Amino acid sequence: MKIISVVGARPNFMKVAPLYIEFQKLNNSNVNHLICHTGQHYDEKMSKLFFEELELPQPDYYLGVGSGSHAEQTARIMIEFEKVLIKEKPELVIVVGDVNSTIACSLTAVKMGIKVAHVESGLRSFDRQMPEEINRILTDSIADYLFVTEKSGIENLMNEGIDSSKIFFVGNVMIDSLINYLPKIQTSQIFPKLNIEKGTYSLITLHRPSNVDSKEKLKELIELLGEVSKNHKVVFPIHPRTKNNLLKYDLFKHLNHNIITTDPLGYIDFISLIKYSNFVLTDSGGIQEETTYLGVPCVTLRNTTERPITVEVGTNYLVGEGLSQAKKYINEILAGNRKQSKIPDLWDGKAAERIVKILLGINS
Ligand code: UD1
Repeated sequence: MKIISVVGARPNFMKVAPLYIEFQKLNNSNVNHLICHTGQHYDEKMSKLFFEELELPQPDYYLGVGSGSHAEQTARIMIEFEKVLIKEKPELVIVVGDVNSTIACSLTAVKMGIKVAHVESGLRSFDRQMPEEINRILTDSIADYLFVTEKSGIENLMNEGIDSSKIFFVGNVMIDSLINYLPKIQTSQIFPKLNIEKGTYSLITLHRPSNVDSKEKLKELIELLGEVSKNHKVVFPIHPRTKNNLLKYDLFKHLNHNIITTDPLGYIDFISLIKYSNFVLTDSGGIQEETTYLGVPCVTLRNTTERPITVEVGTNYLVGEGLSQAKKYINEILAGNRKQSKIPDLWDGKAAERIVKILLGINS
């Protein structure tokens, strides 16, 4: 059986790594698992560093599609991925998450009669302004295997009329990676490098178009960082999209000396920073889950989340895009009032094992 796993953007690499490890463990010459990197993310710090740290092999295919408008990027991925499928004729394509590479490769595969497995299926923000929401809905509507990370996913898929025989609640492959690499995290040299002490800072990430593409919104968020950093160090690894916009709108000058900016960080350093932070302020999807697993408060600067379990049982505070709620919760967290949390069901480091067993029809 030939299987191609697709990665494209930074949040994909840690989701495919545990699947790669499981296929390796099988040591079965009847299973040929290949990795195709679309090149949606291409900077050394957004891509290559992750392959090294996650101990992923060089991808079997690198499509080199790069940046562009949604249509350009999606179309380029489809054209290049079709060539791979014609050559390799796999039985199955595995896609993860909700980025443009996810929908582009799913659509290419199903039209060639190749089965698709979607890992991290069923998540819904119900906000169709988000490009990721469109990617999620479309991918789930054409995939053959839908692997779900939290129970809301099952409900969402059933509501969309998807046959329950295709839906599998397996847990969270991103948490598999987190658990797998936790020992390595102790070796991170990021604290001396940034000259900060564990437990004395907060961590900020911003990259959603709705937060960083407009000058007014980005300026407001930088003002919020100014307030948060008055008595407190803030570490701010800057995504390329955000950096471009900070430069374009001339906003770097508003960042004070307590705000430590860095280039995008590798996986090990970044997870270390989450683990020892007082709280994380973010608009990311995956970080809501990583903070929940690590028991670190997460203040999410969005109106909706496709990961409601992180709010219901985890450490996530969904504060919307207005900033008064964010300030309120940050003050509460810094005063020591944190909500009780627990780790969601099946976030136990074994999601990839379950997925591979289901795909190969192995009865456990
Ligand atoms: C993409 C995903 C988003 C995910 C995010 C994580 C889609 C629709 N969006 O958003 O879901 O949360 O990745 O980062 O797939 N750039 C570089 N170097 C790179 C990559 C990007 O400089 O290696 C710059 C380019 O100017 C590019 C911009 O960042 O145009 C945006 O990159 P793109 O892949 O289009 O989307 P992200 O905002 O990263």
